[in-house]
Amino acid sequence: MNAINRLAAVVALASLLPLNAMAADNGTVEVLHWWTSGGEAKAVETLKAQVEKDGFIWKDNAVAGGGGAAAMTVLKTRAISGNPPAAAQIKGPDIQEWGALGLLTELDDVAKANNWDALLPQKVAQIMKYDGHFVAVPVNIHRVNWLWINPEVFAKAGAKVPTTLDELFAAADKLKAAGFIPLAHGGQPWQDSTVFEDIALSILGPKGYRAAFVELDQDTLTGTQMVEVFKTLQRLGTYMDPNRAGRDWNIAAAEVINGKAGMQIMGDWAKSEWTAAGKVAGKDYQCVAFPGTQGSFAYNIDSLAMFKLKNENDINAQNDLAKVALEPQFQTVFNQNKGSLPVRQDMDMSQFDACTQKSAVDFKEAEKGDGLQPSMAHNMATTLAVQGAIFDVVTNFLNDPKADPATAVKQLDSAIKSAK
Ligand code: GAL
Repeated sequence: MNAINRLAAVVALASLLPLNAMAADNGTVEVLHWWTSGGEAKAVETLKAQVEKDGFIWKDNAVAGGGGAAAMTVLKTRAISGNPPAAAQIKGPDIQEWGALGLLTELDDVAKANNWDALLPQKVAQIMKYDGHFVAVPVNIHRVNWLWINPEVFAKAGAKVPTTLDELFAAADKLKAAGFIPLAHGGQPWQDSTVFEDIALSILGPKGYRAAFVELDQDTLTGTQMVEVFKTLQRLGTYMDPNRAGRDWNIAAAEVINGKAGMQIMGDWAKSEWTAAGKVAGKDYQCVAFPGTQGSFAYNIDSLAMFKLKNENDINAQNDLAKVALEPQFQTVFNQNKGSLPVRQDMDMSQFDACTQKSAVDFKEAEKGDGLQPSMAHNMATTLAVQGAIFDVVTNFLNDPKADPATAVKQLDSAIKSAK
């Protein structure tokens, strides 16, 4: 190859490289998150594409592990060593804890220029602010209290879509008798507690749920209804696949999608897997409120908190990410893939599938009364320390089929006390 041909080859190769690899350093934004399942990775890809289109470099820091416990450990290590990423998926009350450490940057300029206060529900805007300043940008609203159903499996088993806990057990019996796994589940603490909180919402109602997991009210935590919650969890456990230990939530979702199992209790990120598999809401699968929680909406808001940076270009990239996250185009495509509701109030919901449309209606309904409650299992209701204490008790209980519900309630109470 002569010199001219070599040069031509280099130029041709360069044209194949993605734009970001060639871009002058306009700034890099490193994003730490745990969206690694097929469907969720597709959703986050839309954010990356937009940031790159704006001329910045996206440095992906995806830490596998549903619910984010592993990602939070990585984040803490990075922060302690004085090297936090530009943005990290931090949610709910935890935003206040990071804010108090003085590590988060104020996003007031972006927020003002893009009218965030008017765009966001007030409750959501409040969560994103530390000391009156925006320090995080929300991307969506997930609902946690869902039951996902494969209607073909239900039809084969002669099972009816449940609306009460009794009907849930009746459906599970039918599925079991027909040789299906009634309830797909992954034995990981956050998944166990997702089921636990749905049962609590069903049995205690939204006010009791709030008393237990937001107010940490001792009477509620130790009451007879809480014993009932553990009893119900234990009974549901007998319908879960015994090989569930350590299984990721998306693998459990795949069991329902592939017709091996009939149902999954999971937040609506589960829908991202159905969507990625090309399945249509309301036809190939059904989403119903977890039995007994109709009218309630346990919310889980994903948000990216922004850390203080020094480099001017990187700050520009960070601001771009914050701006893009609330733009209508991104809100549409991201949430179509993620399974969640757009967090903007002014979106055209006809672009979303039947489950998301139902979620939007249910959100508005729940908002009118006490129905709207923060998810304990997804870092929205309490500190990570208290949440960790609840996770331990719930998972130990579920892993021991002979465990005593009344004892579990006492353990829950003392674990919460020492974590407070
Ligand atoms: C939640 C998060 C969701 C989803 C889920 C499974 O905590 O808010 O976006 O990623 O974990 O990992």
